[in-house]
Amino acid sequence: MVRTQVAIVGAGPAGLLLGQLLHKEGIDTLLLERRSADYVAGRIRAGVLEPGTVSVLEKAGVAARLHAEGLVHGGVEIGFRGHRHRIDLQALTGRSVTVYGQTEVTRDLMDARAASGAPSVYEAEDVTLLEVTGPAPTVRYRHEGKVHEVACDFIAGCDGFHGVSRRTIPSASLSVYERVYPFGWLGVLADIPPPWEELIYANSDQGFALASMRSTTRVRCYVQCPLEDHIDQWSDERFWTEFRRRLGGEVAARVPDAPSIEKSIAPLRSFVAEPLKYGRLFLAGDAAHIVPPTGAKGLNLAASDVFYLSEALRDFYRASGAGQSGGEAERALDGYSVRALRRIWRAERFSWWMTRQLHQFPGDAFDGKLQHTELEYLFDSRAAQVSMAENYVGLPL
Ligand code: FAD
Ligand code: PHB
Repeated sequence: MVRTQVAIVGAGPAGLLLGQLLHKEGIDTLLLERRSADYVAGRIRAGVLEPGTVSVLEKAGVAARLHAEGLVHGGVEIGFRGHRHRIDLQALTGRSVTVYGQTEVTRDLMDARAASGAPSVYEAEDVTLLEVTGPAPTVRYRHEGKVHEVACDFIAGCDGFHGVSRRTIPSASLSVYERVYPFGWLGVLADIPPPWEELIYANSDQGFALASMRSTTRVRCYVQCPLEDHIDQWSDERFWTEFRRRLGGEVAARVPDAPSIEKSIAPLRSFVAEPLKYGRLFLAGDAAHIVPPTGAKGLNLAASDVFYLSEALRDFYRASGAGQSGGEAERALDGYSVRALRRIWRAERFSWWMTRQLHQFPGDAFDGKLQHTELEYLFDSRAAQVSMAENYVGLPL
């Protein structure tokens, strides 16, 4: 049987970043991932990093390319009724966000892990967590037809919403809070220079649209779509026609029918399972919570979770290494869930609020009037803009 200090399940941003932060603290990890490394590296997801996430990536020693290639944005725009209203993040909060794709963050973390020599097993099948409430948990998995077991001190469940970690916890020990939205986002990636300077979140009568980017030569664009839609129903031409209609104004006139290099539909959901600790198993990232992407928070929350978890584990090993009582060392671990959940719920609130204000919802005319009033208040009130801006750039870690 192999031994490690922390077995990490899942090589998404949460698992990879945790591995790197623990490596910096001299703590050994083994990373187990169900998919192949190429599959993980190729997944197209989030694109906006909070300054707090950038500092965690710096601490992990993986921010050199991000600083060289990331695009720093001092504002975002909200499109509504034919006008664009700029929220000046820099002036309102003194902070900016960085546009740098999750794909790039993942690649930097995978390269750093390979360079560190820390072990990873990709295509690990049937990962099973055993004895998680006892002092000596074990992880069993199958790889290339052979069954392996890993003895460890702790297990970090970083295996996303559909992973095995959360499902290992008996439902009586977990409280679940959930909201499912009645629409999805259809996303398209295309190689054209962005015809906009900053991200535009547009509320239009036809539904929400988001104009985003990955670099100076690549755009990422979304439109709200019915949940039942299939990507086969959305030719590139149909997508761009709808996107232009929702974006409106002179910026829409500059958007060409660019061929898509990726196209997918994602449902929108708010979800929290708490607490984040069960015995010697910890949940982090999408394994514990989901936010609708409207607030650009999913990847950022994964980063703050694992930052808190790395500090808790570091404090545990320091306390136990210094010969302090078991109680002292265990207390270092107990704080993780409370600390992380405080920030998670604030991001849940903000993501729900952004989603509520920017999409077309089935509902009565009263709801519609409130939504429009909320947006007009935002455009007129500096206090409302500060509130949006401080949440968008991210609350302090
Ligand atoms: P994940 O990235 O999901 O990583 C979990 C990893 O665990 C995966 O590699 C998975 O293969 C692995 N795994 C799963 N089960 C097992 C198992 N049994 N054994 C071993 N490994 C396992 N956020 C935004 O802010 N903006 C966006 O535009 C956006 N778009 C998204 C689109 C999609 C389709 C999805 C699913 C998410 C999107 N998100 C977006 C959210 C953001 O990408 C996530 O919050 C972020 O990836 C969370 O990282 P994670 O490491 O916690 O989970
Ligand atoms: C993206 O670029 O994919 C993106 C940006 C901002 C969001 C969601 C997604 O709120």
